[in-house]
Amino acid sequence: MVSPTSSPHPAVPEPEALHDAVTTWYAAHARPLPWRRDTTTAWHVLVSEVMLQQTPVERVTPVYEAWIARWPTPAALAAEPSGEAVRAWGRLGYPRRALRLHAAAVAVCERHGGVVPDDLEDLRALPGVGEYTAAAVAVFAHGRRHAVLDTNVRRVLARVLEGVALPAATLTAPERVLAASVLPPDEETAAVWSIGLMELGALVCTARAPSCGTCPVRRWCRWHSAGRPAYDGPARRGQSYAGTDRQCRGRLLAVLRDAEGAVPGSALRAVWDDATQRERALDGLLDDGLVVTAGPDTYALPG
Ligand code: ADE
Repeated sequence: MVSPTSSPHPAVPEPEALHDAVTTWYAAHARPLPWRRDTTTAWHVLVSEVMLQQTPVERVTPVYEAWIARWPTPAALAAEPSGEAVRAWGRLGYPRRALRLHAAAVAVCERHGGVVPDDLEDLRALPGVGEYTAAAVAVFAHGRRHAVLDTNVRRVLARVLEGVALPAATLTAPERVLAASVLPPDEETAAVWSIGLMELGALVCTARAPSCGTCPVRRWCRWHSAGRPAYDGPARRGQSYAGTDRQCRGRLLAVLRDAEGAVPGSALRAVWDDATQRERALDGLLDDGLVVTAGPDTYALPG
């Protein structure tokens, strides 16, 4: 790993001052989110990070609280049917994450004695855990030293270090190198730096309405000093939802979540008119293992 002090071409002058600006700002402005408590375990961090992958903090919070109260350890979740995880996932969306989190709990029990590992490769090998989530757990739960590159961190670094409004659509190798080159050398500061950048991206350096006037790193920011040039990369795909197959899947799954046991096909037909789309969505749910057939024209959450 390249350390900022040993690099012949540091990405920023005075990296220590930049680190200090971010960590001091974080200490004063961090939101008291439930996964930032002193009592938070590595399992809690894993649960929160999987939930936060595609869902805003406000929607995650109540589901997270109920989840960790019901399943305080991987073993507690692993002991239940995967359908219970899908049910408890509620309306968070992308419900395959619930099945994967259940599978991850089982894998943690089988491979790691019920303890969420701290090694990146071990974490990456868990179902539903990609590069970002593995790094987040290693750093936020175990204090290991790695760059943690979620969309917020990537946007802040793109602006400060590269002078562009937005990073590439997907994480690139040069971004990883650049992020590693500005990582504080000691583990503890590196962890607060990453969570601080993430919070800065969420609260100040937002995608659409950045508040540069209150930004603690403005004096290092190449994007700001260049006059905040507009994004000029390829068009970005919007996340439309209404009328999509994803919305249809959500409606069908809600019927099953709200039922005690199996439901007749008629209950599914009642919530979505377009038969072609509904059948395609149901086929997808069955293929993904989020729904199982419980009899002729009868469906249930997996056992
Ligand atoms: N704290 C730790 N990880 C987070 C995330 N992904 N989003 C918001 N806050 C977080």
